[in-house]
Amino acid sequence: MRFAHEFRLPTRVSLFVFPIGLMSLIYILSRPTRMDPDPLLNNHIKRDHHNEPEQVSALATPQSPIESLPVKFNLMEETYGNNWAEAPADLYLPPNECTIEYANANKLQQDHPCVVRLIRRNYLFKPAPRSVQYRLAHPDAIDPSDGQSQAILEILQNKTNGFFIEVGGYDGEFLSNTLFMERYLQWSGLLIEADKTAFNQLRTRNRKAYTSPVCLSTKPYPMQVVYNATVGTLSSILEKSDGKDEAATNGDTNSIYKVQCFPLYSLLVAIDRTNIDYFGLDVEGSEYKILKTMPWSKVYVKTMTVEWNHTPEGEAAITRLMESNKFIKFGLISMPYTREVVYVRDFLDQYRQYKN
Ligand SMILES: *[C@@H]1O[C@H](CO)[C@@H](O)[C@H](O)[C@H]1NC(C)=O
Ligand SMILES: *[C@@H]1O[C@H](CO)[C@@H](O)[C@H](O)[C@H]1NC(C)=O
Repeated sequence: MRFAHEFRLPTRVSLFVFPIGLMSLIYILSRPTRMDPDPLLNNHIKRDHHNEPEQVSALATPQSPIESLPVKFNLMEETYGNNWAEAPADLYLPPNECTIEYANANKLQQDHPCVVRLIRRNYLFKPAPRSVQYRLAHPDAIDPSDGQSQAILEILQNKTNGFFIEVGGYDGEFLSNTLFMERYLQWSGLLIEADKTAFNQLRTRNRKAYTSPVCLSTKPYPMQVVYNATVGTLSSILEKSDGKDEAATNGDTNSIYKVQCFPLYSLLVAIDRTNIDYFGLDVEGSEYKILKTMPWSKVYVKTMTVEWNHTPEGEAAITRLMESNKFIKFGLISMPYTREVVYVRDFLDQYRQYKN
């Protein structure tokens, strides 16, 4: 490609010889990128980027505002084009520079190889083997959930060997939506719990699911937040922390502490699983924002329960968001501890498109 060839010239030469070279340089410098400015990296990426020539010709008038690629979910393909994964992962960030501080400060993409590596290495525990016994406080209780697991299993007709994500996994037993499925129907899954005390207990249960001591980002990138664990199961995220505010540095106590958050999609990429039978979301207030970070076209979730009574946006906003992503509101669950809305994936959508 002409553009790719020219860009390989030393920058100074292209500045003086080719006006187009200057344009490319302006374009590169002004792109709202999070990428490493390493010229080797840029060169490599340009070669695969089929949109690039149009982008450059759109710069005919240098004063015109420079169009960037639409960044909706902060995904690698939005920054680097659809073929980004063909380049070696280390090209996007050398492993020795991949730290959690870097990932937070640079708002790395949800599926950035560095983000995925950090999760796998530091924030994810493997499921206990099936042969290992559970250690439960109430082993005789068949189903500790507040109605969710039977509602979901009715829809899924007692499916066996399913896969769940439970966000707000708490101690892995008390009011667990997924213990029944795992114990009696051989499901596995991912349990996410940001509360330190609850997570430590969860780790002792020998759940046959991945466990992760993180919170879910309310923005489409990794971030740190301050967490208020004063109120047990109702613990919630206090405020956004940019990692250098005073509250975060001198406020670390047993009940107020910093927690690392990742977008849910980052965790799904890290466990290499985008086909989910049941997704339960109960995080005392951030539900809508978390759901909004999700690139729904890249995952297939069959059923969901979402706690709605603590979200400032309200149930109607969540339902609108889910309906615009091919879900149907199935109903509500109202129990002593639970105000949840149930969604199911509209599996007839593809059929209707085919018929039309
Ligand atoms: C699912 O299992 C429950 C018992 O846990 C049973 O009552 C129900 O009839 C089963 N449903 C189906 C569709 O098999
Ligand atoms: C944490 O939550 C408790 C209970 O709601 C509240 O009393 C306390 O003021 C909160 N702490 C901070 C720092 O906001």
